[in-house]
Amino acid sequence: MSGDRASGYVTEIEYTGGFYPELGPVRLGFAAQAAGLGSPDPGLPFTYLELGCGQGRSTALHAASLPHGRFFAADLNPAHIRNARALSESAGLANVTWLERSFAELLDEDLPDLDFITLQGVYSWISAENRRHVAELVRRRLKPGGLVYLSYNALPGWTAAAPLRRLMADHASLGTGPLEGRIRDAVGFAGALRDAGARYFERNPAAASRLDQIAEKSPAYLAHEYFNRDWTLFYFADVAAEMAEAGLGFAGSAHLMDRVEALTIPAAARPALAGIHDPTFRETAKDFITGQPFRRDVFVRPGARPAPDPVLALVTPREACPGRVAVPAGDFRMEGAVHGTVLDTLAGEPQPLSSLLALPALAERGHGLGLEAVMTLVGLDLIGPALPRAGLPGRLASTRRFNAAMLDRQRAGLESSVHLASPVLGSGVEVNLLEGLTLSAWRDGAGDPARFVWNVLAGRGQRLVKDGRTLESEAGNLTEIAERIEAFAAGRLLVLSQLGVAE
Ligand SMILES: C[S@@+](CC[C@H](N)C(=O)[O-])C[C@H]1O[C@@H](n2cnc3c(N)ncnc32)[C@H](O)[C@@H]1O
Repeated sequence: MSGDRASGYVTEIEYTGGFYPELGPVRLGFAAQAAGLGSPDPGLPFTYLELGCGQGRSTALHAASLPHGRFFAADLNPAHIRNARALSESAGLANVTWLERSFAELLDEDLPDLDFITLQGVYSWISAENRRHVAELVRRRLKPGGLVYLSYNALPGWTAAAPLRRLMADHASLGTGPLEGRIRDAVGFAGALRDAGARYFERNPAAASRLDQIAEKSPAYLAHEYFNRDWTLFYFADVAAEMAEAGLGFAGSAHLMDRVEALTIPAAARPALAGIHDPTFRETAKDFITGQPFRRDVFVRPGARPAPDPVLALVTPREACPGRVAVPAGDFRMEGAVHGTVLDTLAGEPQPLSSLLALPALAERGHGLGLEAVMTLVGLDLIGPALPRAGLPGRLASTRRFNAAMLDRQRAGLESSVHLASPVLGSGVEVNLLEGLTLSAWRDGAGDPARFVWNVLAGRGQRLVKDGRTLESEAGNLTEIAERIEAFAAGRLLVLSQLGVAE
């Protein structure tokens, strides 16, 4: 499907641009610290490399929110690197080097020793030879105590739907003409088989529902997800073995909900896990229980590093934090005296983990249960890992420039929702179109923010939808926009201000 340099990886169609918080140094450091491991301190100068950075959204945002870090990001697709450089220039980022390089070419690149190496959506989609290049880069460049982030398609979660990918890829490889058309035809063919009652879909409802999801995705997403030459599904144990060969051990999942069994493992399955002491087999058993099709793992190169005391911040407005949450394990109920106390404490300002664990409500439960209560709130995305206050003014100057560039892109119609950089979290916060346009209105000193938002939407022929009905009149839209701005100002804006995303 493409030339030799790309080793069968799609280059004809550009990938979509997405932000992934799991790639962030603060999140990765926290993932290691939560396992009691030392880690690079993301509050101090560090070096970072993203392999297969695509449009560069994650690295650009992390570089903006961590200007004391030195970032490198590589991708073989010239269009991806061009776009990443353009975003980086518009945001005035001075601490990222964008490299248009294949993994093989990077082996000879003059790079510093690295604290973090990350790969998002890459490992399952490249050849075995390219995985060896990645392992060799890690072996050569990762510092002792350094962290690697890898995400990949996992087994057994993909078992039912894997043949669907094969069907579509084989169909596309027999076609002629541009890839986009062949993708459309391949998806259409799979749909026709399903509609004709093909037994495969009848016996594998997960494949039928995945086909429904596929039908909604853009060709750019589908090309990179399903139509590369290589597409390897991994058991955790096999990835862990490949990383062990590069000298790394498993530190834990970067998807922090996975770290709390009360959230992900149904009560009936917990006794089966309790007897497993081999950490690799335990992960395998958990993957059978949860059936998760995608893993986000952190690996560490052994080496003496201190474990910094992580800082935590509220990321959801306190009053919007629910008392009860539906989670993969069932229904989770918050305990006011414990979870509520942590949330109330963080509603003031970010706090070190050690201070939260010292709160009487947590301390009296013992370290293990206290930590679990904090991790539960992190896993539910109500609170999140953050940075110490030191260095905040420098980070704020850099995130302001980045956020202005992202809001401009949104206003110009290049983006719908955007991720803005937080100098408090060292990570991103999603802001939808109405929230973003409101922030633009305030930034530009527009007298009537609702009118500002409406002018942008009306210029694009867009209307608001309320209770399932499109509001057609200007007056109706203006009233609704004003109400939504008011709710934003009274709720989420307070958290965005605390996170340094809004002034
Ligand atoms: C699915 S995309 C993920 C992009 C980005 N990490 C993200 O999540 O948005 C995989 C990326 O890896 C790049 N890639 C694939 N094989 C590569 C190789 N051998 N060397 C360098 N980049 C490669 C592709 O060009 C593509 O941008």
